[in-house]
Amino acid sequence: MERALYVCTECGGGSAQWLGRCPSCGNFGTMREERKESSRAEGCETSAEPLRMMDLGTDAPRLLVGIPELDRVLGGGAVPGSLILLGGEPGIGKSTLLLQAAFSLASSKSRVLLVSGEESAAQIAARARRTGTFHPDIYLLCETDLEAVINAARKANPQVVVVDSVQTMRCTELESSPGGITQLRECVLRLQALARETGAAVFLVGHVTKEGVLAGPRLVEHMVDCVLYFEGERFDSLRVLRAVKNRFGSVSEVGIFEMTDVGLREVEDPSLHFLGRRDEQVSGTAVSVLMEGRRPLVVEIQALVVPSNLPMPKRVSAGIDHRRLAVDVAVLERKGQIRLSDRDVYVGISGGLKASEPALDLGLCAAVASSRQDRPLPRGSVFLGEVSLTGEVRPVSRLEDRLQEASRLGFKTAVISDGARLRNRLPEMELIKVRDVREAVTRFVLKRDLENGSS
Ligand code: TYD
Ligand code: MG
Repeated sequence: MERALYVCTECGGGSAQWLGRCPSCGNFGTMREERKESSRAEGCETSAEPLRMMDLGTDAPRLLVGIPELDRVLGGGAVPGSLILLGGEPGIGKSTLLLQAAFSLASSKSRVLLVSGEESAAQIAARARRTGTFHPDIYLLCETDLEAVINAARKANPQVVVVDSVQTMRCTELESSPGGITQLRECVLRLQALARETGAAVFLVGHVTKEGVLAGPRLVEHMVDCVLYFEGERFDSLRVLRAVKNRFGSVSEVGIFEMTDVGLREVEDPSLHFLGRRDEQVSGTAVSVLMEGRRPLVVEIQALVVPSNLPMPKRVSAGIDHRRLAVDVAVLERKGQIRLSDRDVYVGISGGLKASEPALDLGLCAAVASSRQDRPLPRGSVFLGEVSLTGEVRPVSRLEDRLQEASRLGFKTAVISDGARLRNRLPEMELIKVRDVREAVTRFVLKRDLENGSS
């Protein structure tokens, strides 16, 4: 086979000649010439002996970091010898999270080596003191030369190595610049070898660009065992840690943190956190339950509907998917008979969360209609339903889990689809079934009986 001379910087796909468009991922202008030295790893001549499964030992015990939200997302602690990528936008709190992890590990007598190519030792120490994560036994190394990092790691023999960030590391043997695909791949390969050889769990910090891909290639994601993303709005304190790949656990776990002035704090009861204070019922708010991975979260949807004098009234959303809003507004207008074509509609979701789940449709419609009519929805009720383009209210996934969470927080009534089937009923919760948006709006916003109220 011909050796690839040009490599795509996005997906790592190769080609023998230069192409304007990558044949693997279809991106334009991403093919770069590959330096020869990086292909040294090819052509291994040793023959390999297959293992029988029965000859394999038992798994090495997992290393608990001691931050339960992080351990859960990892699938029950870090696996020794594994490579874990922590991705996120700059400034989201990756360094802070891993510093806190290092502190927690050191406190339970694990040896931790913290490598930073971005900050000086003095900066890290200052942050550690400020956030109460200063530990005398954490090893620090401020270095961008990967060779030096690996030698130091072999000498210190830590159980956990943190490399912040993988994009700043460079192999001096390679001529290409740090952060480039060749460098990145080589660095990850060597760190992987280090992890396998020493049995240390290696955390790599990776910066993510605005478009949400790891700066440089997706390639790194394929090479590591576990990919975690740390997400949140820069001006909001909420942070969600999500696993998008995990060779040793489920990817439906999320960890929820809050950024405070003394570092990250785990949010123990997220629903309570998002719901805020609810003393009196005001118009334009509806409560619904969304799923973050396997976790139901009770959230408040807020809507503000105001007269518009624009030819194209505004539809502005913070946190809720824009297309969902546009569709739900159109359905409300046409099927729910709530006039919105001369109104600006603003909607938001509590706590800086992001949601694109169809299960929020009914709550969104209820909040918008409630604001439009300036009538509050009934107290203590949650709205759970998908709304189709025909205005029909459809059942949502994992209804039981969502109801359970709402009930736990004291909600007494749930408005759901009349097509919903429940295996276990919650005795303390009244279920009100609706067929379509029109019925929901009529009953809960216009507060008329369907039979008497004809409009
Ligand atoms: P950082 O962990 O450096 O982000 P990353 O490594 O992902 O780039 O965190 C940076 C932001 O977090 C910074 O803008 C300030 C904020 N922050 C706090 O609000 N409180 C704190 O205690 C710390 C350490 C940081
Ligand atoms: Mg950082």
